[in-house]
Amino acid sequence: MSKKVSIELDGDNLEVQAGITVKKVMELSGYKISKYPDRGFLFTPCETGGCWSCAVEVNGEPKPACSTTVSHGLTVKTRLPEHYIPKRIITGFSGHPVGGVGTPWWMKCKGGYIETACFAAGCNFRCPQCQNWDITYMGSGKAFTPIEAAGLMTTAREKFSVDRMAISGGESTLNRRWLLDYVRKLKELNPDPSARIHVDTNGSILTEDYIDELVEAGMTDVGPDLKGSYLESFVRITGVKDQDLAERYHTTAWNAVRYLIEKYKDRVFTGVGIPYNRKLISVQELGVMGEKLFEIDPKIQVCVLDYRPEFKRLDLVKPRYEEMVEVHRVLKGKGLKTVICQTEHGHIGPE
Ligand code: FES
Repeated sequence: MSKKVSIELDGDNLEVQAGITVKKVMELSGYKISKYPDRGFLFTPCETGGCWSCAVEVNGEPKPACSTTVSHGLTVKTRLPEHYIPKRIITGFSGHPVGGVGTPWWMKCKGGYIETACFAAGCNFRCPQCQNWDITYMGSGKAFTPIEAAGLMTTAREKFSVDRMAISGGESTLNRRWLLDYVRKLKELNPDPSARIHVDTNGSILTEDYIDELVEAGMTDVGPDLKGSYLESFVRITGVKDQDLAERYHTTAWNAVRYLIEKYKDRVFTGVGIPYNRKLISVQELGVMGEKLFEIDPKIQVCVLDYRPEFKRLDLVKPRYEEMVEVHRVLKGKGLKTVICQTEHGHIGPE
């Protein structure tokens, strides 16, 4: 028989199985858990202990509910104090020579370091071909407050003599309060007009009000990834099996791009990322994406990434240079002015 332990959850004494997570206890106790924000009591987008969106108070300390296991005598309060300082696991803070999809193309050709980057652990997707899986699914490591992370990023900016400061992941937007505080603090520490605060994202929870708050906080550049035009491709690429959730994520990402261009075209640089590997998405579908993006803005920067064998998809074959030339031709043929394709021999485009 499995061992039972006594814990306290929001003032109730419970006997629960030893070693299960706090999230599981909450679930069994009737708390609604959701992988989309504001759809439940507890938001658990990554479930790997990286993003800390699911933080609750455990023995007086904030801890992620999804990865904290129960032991005898544990006290859990599911409401954090009002002035709780958010944390999340972050790594990196180093110079980056290539930049992300939200890096303007003219910077990519500069050579040397063009920005500093940090990487947020935790993602709500389960892309089998994830190209950053060691960071994305890293459930342990140092959790930083926004002030600590902004300080490290500012130091890195000075060290690498760059103006751009990027956060990528994992999925950077998962812990909303953390990200907004981080961007605000980074802006405060870097008040000069040349400082650029760049957020790379899968766009899946980037609603209009969230975008407004990020811009207000100081975000100047954003790189949303659009993983397909059709829902079935999105599901194949992201590994999100729940159809309702996949649809919500997919729609939110496309809407985010539309909204960013409609409302912030003159204030925020938006560069869209698209994945390509013929096992994941067809060139025909990329053409459909090109048409949709053309309708949003013919001048929008589109960066196609050649997805390579990685993580759980070692069967993939890295797209050949000629394939990427064809992808570039198709997207340019839809009227898009700024298309960059990543290849094994460097970038093609934008011309
Ligand atoms: S959902 Fe628990 S840390 Fe991300």
